[in-house]
Amino acid sequence: MRDNQLNSLIQQMTLEEKIAQLIQLATPFYQGSNYNGQITGPIVELGITEEIVHNSGSVLGASGAEEVISIQKTHLENNRLGIPLLFMADVVHGFKTIFPVPLAIGCSWDLGLAEKSAEIAAREAAVSGVHVTFAPMVDLVRDPRWGRVMESTGEDPYLNSQFAKAFVRGFQGSDLETDKNRVAACVKHFAAYGAPEGGRDYNTVNMSERQLRESYLPAYKAALDAGVEMVMTAFNTVDGIPASANKWLMRDLLRDEWKFDGVLISDWGAVKELIPHGVAADETEAAYKAIQAGVDIEMMTACYVKHLRELVENGDIHETTIDEAVLRILRLKAKLGLFEHPYRAADESLEKEIVMSHQHRQASRELAAKSCVLLKNDGVLPLQKDRKIAVIGPFAQSGDILGPWSWLGSKEQAVQLYDGLTEKAGSSLLLTAKGCGIDTGTEEQLNEAFDIASQADIIVLALGEDSEMSGEAGSRADIRLPEVQIELVKKLKQLHKPTVAVLFNGRPLDLHGVIDHVDAVLEAWYPGTEGGAAIADLLFGDVNPSGKLTMSFPFSVGQVPVYYNHFNTGRPKDAPDAQERYVSQYLDIPNQPLLPFGFGLSYTTYSYSEAKLSGDSINLEQSLSLTIKVTNTGKMAGEEIVQLYIQDLAGEVVRPLKELKAFEKIMLQPGESKKVTFTITEEQLRYYHSDLQFKSDPGAFNAYVGPNSQQGQALPFQLVK
Ligand code: BGC
Ligand code: BGC
Repeated sequence: MRDNQLNSLIQQMTLEEKIAQLIQLATPFYQGSNYNGQITGPIVELGITEEIVHNSGSVLGASGAEEVISIQKTHLENNRLGIPLLFMADVVHGFKTIFPVPLAIGCSWDLGLAEKSAEIAAREAAVSGVHVTFAPMVDLVRDPRWGRVMESTGEDPYLNSQFAKAFVRGFQGSDLETDKNRVAACVKHFAAYGAPEGGRDYNTVNMSERQLRESYLPAYKAALDAGVEMVMTAFNTVDGIPASANKWLMRDLLRDEWKFDGVLISDWGAVKELIPHGVAADETEAAYKAIQAGVDIEMMTACYVKHLRELVENGDIHETTIDEAVLRILRLKAKLGLFEHPYRAADESLEKEIVMSHQHRQASRELAAKSCVLLKNDGVLPLQKDRKIAVIGPFAQSGDILGPWSWLGSKEQAVQLYDGLTEKAGSSLLLTAKGCGIDTGTEEQLNEAFDIASQADIIVLALGEDSEMSGEAGSRADIRLPEVQIELVKKLKQLHKPTVAVLFNGRPLDLHGVIDHVDAVLEAWYPGTEGGAAIADLLFGDVNPSGKLTMSFPFSVGQVPVYYNHFNTGRPKDAPDAQERYVSQYLDIPNQPLLPFGFGLSYTTYSYSEAKLSGDSINLEQSLSLTIKVTNTGKMAGEEIVQLYIQDLAGEVVRPLKELKAFEKIMLQPGESKKVTFTITEEQLRYYHSDLQFKSDPGAFNAYVGPNSQQGQALPFQLVK
């Protein structure tokens, strides 16, 4: 259907019918639902009529072909003009075949597999009746106390932007209108939800517009450039005004400057939350502010359906404002083909065939292995298959490895670590004990674990946070592992046996008490459905670890926020002439994180040759190329992630010490060398000036190529104009 047809449909709609298109309700409100979705916010007494439900525009959290078809069928019988519902759900890192959490996917630096994971999630969701996913979440994160860092790909604007595009391509494909195996994507949470003060969820965000544009906005913009259909507002304030009522953010920036004309949806309850935020006196004012700011769909509160009518009748808002919102929603329905095919790809028999297929599980296993990061290895890994291994800890036999935002994933069908290892080494050589729970334990459990471990040659400790400890509303102030698990590590250390820790968690942790007491640490994050199998691939060396961190691991929580692309300050600690005291430092801990951005080990070693620049200056037309030879100097084939960083030595505003500009992932056989070439262009040197102009200026720069954000020799060059 074209706009003129949609507009004539809008003309036939009553004001009530139009306004009802703007509400989104969760599944339990609908006849025909067999509710099994996740309630992510307070379901408040909405006090809406059945008629509003019949006229409503979209549904949250329904899935499964049978349920979706039944809701849609009943809806079309009750809706006067036969306008179909849009079905939206949080398909974040997999639908039923669960992939690693996004922070883990980030650590793979593998854009192709990231895209593939979203494509598979879309395929499973589409046959199960979903039309729109509330993903990708692209909020830049610097504070591991915030539970939702697991949903982000990390602390770098460039890398996050690359992943944002990859996920949008994977979900939507290249032509959503014809490709029924894809779903529309909704980028979130606009904007800067990843920067809450103190890492406390939903808390205030406060930053300059310059910083917003430089660090936080690029990934949302990248998703828009990739054609994302929808945008979701954030819960937080942006410069004192909640995002969901922020006219500057949504009208001036998103719509006028960036030309976004798709659907803008509030986050769960965020319109009504304008009242406790303190910018709306009542629901009427909340509705007024949100619609004026450009929010088309109000998720899970009823300010619009209850109050927009009076606002139109009073003349406070024009009916055309409502018509525009309705048009955008109907356009998306038309694009997805819902007027002709209201069930779209929902198909019960295909659903059985496709969802959790062997092929999908294999893709998840491959990505999981590439997402784990080897943080330490004093020679105990890879494990030999003929040694006796004791797998100890609360995650030895746990299916809680899917992570938050996997509401349709089945923990029962997840491959546990013990089972993954047994699959490879056979059960006769494997022993196991729990040792303790996540945060409680008994003396007996501890002693049993000690006895079991004493019978083995090697100890594999499976530790971590349960999935409730991160994700939404999962902020923690102390980001060490719970005390009982640290006690378990200490106890088993008395055995003086080679010990490997495998960590299951959703955030960078303070690893003191773990990393210093074991011989190797593998950060497995929440690895998804095939977790145990993928980890076994890595521990036994059938796959060589290649992941690298995309979020710094702090030395301790007192450093937070700690991130690689920070400023130098006027008194850097490492300057050649630095004083002992009067420099920017802590008296009790180092400035550097425990493990920096870009860091990750492998079972092989790589050597980097001296890097060469093709010249010593660039200008607007002339780029530079930087070449380096990387050699696999070890005995195992492996993938290395070669990273290019640039530093602007003197800007109009202060520039970060290093900024990631490009990377390449290369496969090297033992002894093999590859030449990696990066092109440096003037475009990469642009930044937001104090007047918010995005441009470069002449002067001196350093390029760095290396295996992580801390290593790599400086290569000076000039930009001349
Ligand atoms: C979350 C969103 C999510 C929405 C719908 C909210 O609580 O912040 O990320 O998409 O719920 O489930
Ligand atoms: C301090 C100032 C002080 C100045 C002169 C600086 O290091 O920051 O507060 O007034 O020295 O002693």
